[in-house]
Amino acid sequence: MEEPTASSVVPPPPGAARRVVLGVTGGIAAYKAVELCRRLVDAGLHVVPVLTEDATRFVGEVTFSALASEPVRRSLWHEPDPIPHTRLGQTADLVVVAPATARFLGTYAAGISDGLLTATVLATRAPVVVCPAMHTEMWEHPAVQDNLAVLRRRGVHVVEPAEGRLAGGDRGAGRLAEPAVIAEVVLGLLQRHPTPQDLTGRRVVVSAGGTREPIDPVRFITNRSSGKQGYALAEAAAARGASVVLVTTVQRPVPPGVHEVVAVDTAAAMEAAVLGQAATADVVVMAAAVADFRPVQVAPRKLSKSDGPPQLVLEPTVDILAELGRRRRRGQVLVGFAAETHQVETRAAAKLRSKGVDLMVVNDVSAPAAGFEHDTNAVVVLGADGSRREVPLTSKRQVADAVLDSVVDRLPAGAAGGPARDQQPRSRS
Ligand code: CTP
Repeated sequence: MEEPTASSVVPPPPGAARRVVLGVTGGIAAYKAVELCRRLVDAGLHVVPVLTEDATRFVGEVTFSALASEPVRRSLWHEPDPIPHTRLGQTADLVVVAPATARFLGTYAAGISDGLLTATVLATRAPVVVCPAMHTEMWEHPAVQDNLAVLRRRGVHVVEPAEGRLAGGDRGAGRLAEPAVIAEVVLGLLQRHPTPQDLTGRRVVVSAGGTREPIDPVRFITNRSSGKQGYALAEAAAARGASVVLVTTVQRPVPPGVHEVVAVDTAAAMEAAVLGQAATADVVVMAAAVADFRPVQVAPRKLSKSDGPPQLVLEPTVDILAELGRRRRRGQVLVGFAAETHQVETRAAAKLRSKGVDLMVVNDVSAPAAGFEHDTNAVVVLGADGSRREVPLTSKRQVADAVLDSVVDRLPAGAAGGPARDQQPRSRS
C-alpha cells in the first residue's frame, strides 16, 4: 500500500474540501464505518481514515483506503511525518469516531494518548463526534456512562447508539447509530462551525420530558416523552450563546453550556417553574409533554390490590403554554410542540392559534424514527405569520437548530433579556 506522505497532512488551501478525520476503533460495527466513509466522501468532504490496530481485525484497511480521500493511517510510528498526531488534529475541521468502543471512550475521557487516534482527538480543537457501539451491559455500565458524561461536559458530541441486534445474536441498546444519522450530525456540525452566536445575550427557557402525576406514593400517570428533543434544544441554544434554563422532568447529562437546570415532576411544578422563569425570558420553548389531567386525590398510602380497582377521578391541569401566551412579555418568542397522530397539521395549526404562540413544531409521532424516545425526528415548523418549514428526518440536534433559526428570525433586534448571569452550571430541584 502506498505510504501517506508528510505533505498530505499540511493545512489545506483556502476553499479546499473540509477535512474530516474518521476514527475507527475495534468493534464489530466497524463495517458500518465503511458506509459512513462513503457518505462523507459523497458529501464532498476530504476524509482521512484513522484505524486502531483492533479495528483492522474487523475491517480491511484496503477497503477504507479505496473509498477515503487518503490512505489509512493507524500508527504513530509508521508515518514519515514525525508528528502526525498533532498535524491530523490541527488540520481537521472535525473528527468523528465510529464505532467508539468503551476502551476508546475511557482512554479519551482520561486524556491518555496511547495511539494515533487518541493522540489526534487530544490534539484537535475541531469538534469531535463519538458514536459509541458496544454490548448493552457495557453501554449501561456506570464507568462508560461516567466517561461519556465527562466527554459531553467538555463539548464532545455524542451520537447515541440505537437499540437492535448486537454481535452474537443479542438484542438491546448499544448498536451503532445508522451511518446516515451520523453523516447528518457531521454535516450539520460542519455547517454550523464556527457556531453562529446569534442568541448571545438572550435568556432562553426550555422545558423537557413528560410530567408525572401521582396516584399514590409509588404510582403515577405519565407519557412516553424522553426529553431528548428538549435537551437538544437547550444544548443548541447554549452553543449559540444563549443563557439557558432547562426545566426538566428527566435526568440526563446536563448539555454543555446550559447554566441552570430546574428539576420538576408534576405539571403543577412545571407550571410554577416555567412561569417564574418566563418572566425574564426572551424565548420560551415548551418541548415538555405536560399532562392534561391529574388525579384529584393522591392516596397517602400505597393502594392495595385487595382494595379493588381504584376509581381515578381526574381534573385538568393548567395549560402552561396558553398561560405563557396570555402573559407574554413584549418581544418574547413562544414556541410550542404538538405531538400528533392524526390530522397532524390541522390540529397543530389550531393549537398555534388558540395558545397564542409564534411557532408550533409539529411532530407526527406515528411516523417511523420520529418523535418519542428516538434520537431522530422529522418536524414541520408552523409560524403564526403563516410560514411553514419542513425539517426532514434528521438528528434531534439538527431539528433544534432549525427551530432556533426560526426563533432568531422573530426576535427583535438587541438583547432584551435580564442582566448577564454567571455561566457556571447550577442545579436545583
Ligand atoms: N402544553 C402545556 N400545558 C399543558 C398541556 C400542553 O404547556 N397542560 C403545551 C405542550 O408543552 C406543547 C403544547 O402545549 O408545547 C401542545 O401540547 P399538546 O399535548 O399537543 O396539546 P394539548 O393542548 O394538550 O391538546 P391535545 O391533548 O388535545 O392534543
